[in-house]
Amino acid sequence: MKKFAFFIVLIISLNIFAGVFGYGQGGEVNVYTSRHYDTDQKLYDEFTKLTGIKVNVIKAGEDELIERMKNEGKDTNADLFITSDVGRLHRAKILGLLQPMVTETLTRNIPASLRDRDNYWYALTVRARVLAYAPERVDITKIKTYDDLINPEWKGKILIRSSSNIYNQSLVASFIAMYGEEWAFNWSKGIVKNMAREPKGNDRAQVIAVASGEGDIAVVNTYYIGKMLFSSDKQQVNAAKKVKLYFPEKTHINVSGAGIAKYSKNKENAIKLLEFLTSKDAQKEFAEANYEYPANPEVEPSDFLKSFGEFTSQGVDLTLLGEYNSKAVELMDKAGWK
Ligand SMILES: [Fe+2]
Repeated sequence: MKKFAFFIVLIISLNIFAGVFGYGQGGEVNVYTSRHYDTDQKLYDEFTKLTGIKVNVIKAGEDELIERMKNEGKDTNADLFITSDVGRLHRAKILGLLQPMVTETLTRNIPASLRDRDNYWYALTVRARVLAYAPERVDITKIKTYDDLINPEWKGKILIRSSSNIYNQSLVASFIAMYGEEWAFNWSKGIVKNMAREPKGNDRAQVIAVASGEGDIAVVNTYYIGKMLFSSDKQQVNAAKKVKLYFPEKTHINVSGAGIAKYSKNKENAIKLLEFLTSKDAQKEFAEANYEYPANPEVEPSDFLKSFGEFTSQGVDLTLLGEYNSKAVELMDKAGWK
């Protein structure tokens, strides 16, 4: 009997301990993510070690994940949805696949400019869409803004991927938000006029085309330069070494971010994971995994990113990038941007 009582006391104290420190309470959380980096898994493992909550990861393209959540409806397994573009986060929000979430920790970790206006998603990392140019052929002092790219001087020199790419759609959406539809349309038309070739390939392919002399200025997300420089593919390393980066005034930024699934069955655990991923400890690792900027302002970017120099971002409400997405696609199409 004494032994039995001792075990009861032990179990109760362990539970109090676990409750206070959040350890070992178990359960699971299902993450639908389009990010595919080994370090993400490392962080999930750390989270499990800390909380006892098992993280099940389902990786796929963002559109595929959105489609899947739509089809699964109330029966979905998704608890946390992670993407690498704000346009897709917004799409998930308007399709009713996410739920708003406010906690003291999330509000403290992520500034208002890097979360959804209605708190449906929070940024995890920040990436900038910048210029990678051939320094021997481009006098970069002639360029200050994105608008300078449509100057006739750069006819046949601009490399940029297709208008079906969400990064370009978000870029044009940001111009609609800042300067209006007409401005964004004229810019798109000017870019088409100055293209070195019909859009093809991904961001890295544009950098490679600058290096090989097919054009002079590529529009590219910052982290691809990191990925190329540290790639095992020699062509990528050499191409990245040949270009220089330029951050136009009012640099366009986009985010990788996460939101709680509307029909999450493990909501408490999903909140805990989101709080963990935005925390100071996790942010550095999470951002550096993909050469991105941390979303938590208390965490400094890596030395590698700092070597790119500082920049001032557009200051556009990121929610608008999602809201103007279809308008942007329409304008780019009308401008003849393939
Ligand atoms: Fe990307």
